[in-house]
Amino acid sequence: MARVLTGIQSSGRQHLGNILGAILPAIEMSNDPKNEAYLFIADLHSLTTVKDAKQRKDNLIATAAAWLACGLNPNKVVFYAQSHLPECTELTWYLNCFTPYPMLANAHSFKDKSNNLSDVNAGLFDYPVLMASDILLYDADIVPVGKDQKQHLEITRDLASSFNHQYGDTFVLPESKISESVMTIPGTDGRKMSKSYGNVVDVFLPKKQLKKQVMGIQTDSTPLEDPKDPNTCNVFALYKLLATDEQAKQLAEKYRGGNFGYGHAKTALLELILEEFGSAREKFDHYIENPEEVFSALKMGAEKARPVAQATLNRVRNKLGF
Ligand code: ADP
Ligand code: TRP
Repeated sequence: MARVLTGIQSSGRQHLGNILGAILPAIEMSNDPKNEAYLFIADLHSLTTVKDAKQRKDNLIATAAAWLACGLNPNKVVFYAQSHLPECTELTWYLNCFTPYPMLANAHSFKDKSNNLSDVNAGLFDYPVLMASDILLYDADIVPVGKDQKQHLEITRDLASSFNHQYGDTFVLPESKISESVMTIPGTDGRKMSKSYGNVVDVFLPKKQLKKQVMGIQTDSTPLEDPKDPNTCNVFALYKLLATDEQAKQLAEKYRGGNFGYGHAKTALLELILEEFGSAREKFDHYIENPEEVFSALKMGAEKARPVAQATLNRVRNKLGF
């Protein structure tokens, strides 16, 4: 049995790109009986950028609600909020004292932001050590992450192996699992769907607002009567991701046949989203209206995670003579 652990940034509402690119693959991985899955919401990391308390809490609820609504089973997965286990911040301090300064100064995530140093707080600089602590605290074997997190995993392994070398076996050395093959979901403007580009489809929005997003997908100006190429159309690209092969084939035929406008295609996409995510949308609304259910799921996860965290911390404290 491999312990597979990954962290999710609590950056608020989860869009279709997050759902298809991260949430559903992680839930699938957690359903593999060979894995023991730890999935947590990295809300301490969010403090490096989000300073507003209400926003942080709302982000935590919305992120957890999206995962639960998409099918994460909190009885099976150890699902928790990073901040509910302060053991993580204690381990971060110990690791900090073994982290060479240049290792952090050379991290891409810091370098990208360091041209404006007055905006950089020490938390942002230390971000990779908090992440190492997330991983080492729970003896993770495998850590699935995107390519952008690869260097953070290398830092984690370096810290763990140099500590083990100095004090004897203490930490499990985690392997990263970089998902090169995960498809990039296009946004409403054809670029990668991302909160930072404002081009998302948020399937959890009320129907009227969701419709506005779908109707706003950029298309070319081919007149309604003319045949159209489905393979160059953003609407079709999204439709294809959710449809069966037969549904996609039928819509492609309508594109090619002419007298089928982009408005019609957008309506077909909206209907498919409402059908595919109907039950997830209901569950999401339920969790947003009953946040205590979200907190009780996270509390259950924290209770399962705590003994593992405490055992690791005890090993570390003993080694360090505390
Ligand atoms: P955003 O770009 O909206 O800020 P994040 O960087 O918070 O999204 O990504 C959270 C997770 O969702 C990551 O695992 C990331 O790989 C995945 N993800 C985000 N956008 C997409 C997309 N357009 N296609 C596929 N996966 C995505
Ligand atoms: N930094 C990761 C990201 O931006 C989130 C994260 C925090 C994480 N701690 C982690 C991922 C530990 C994997 C393991 O996506």
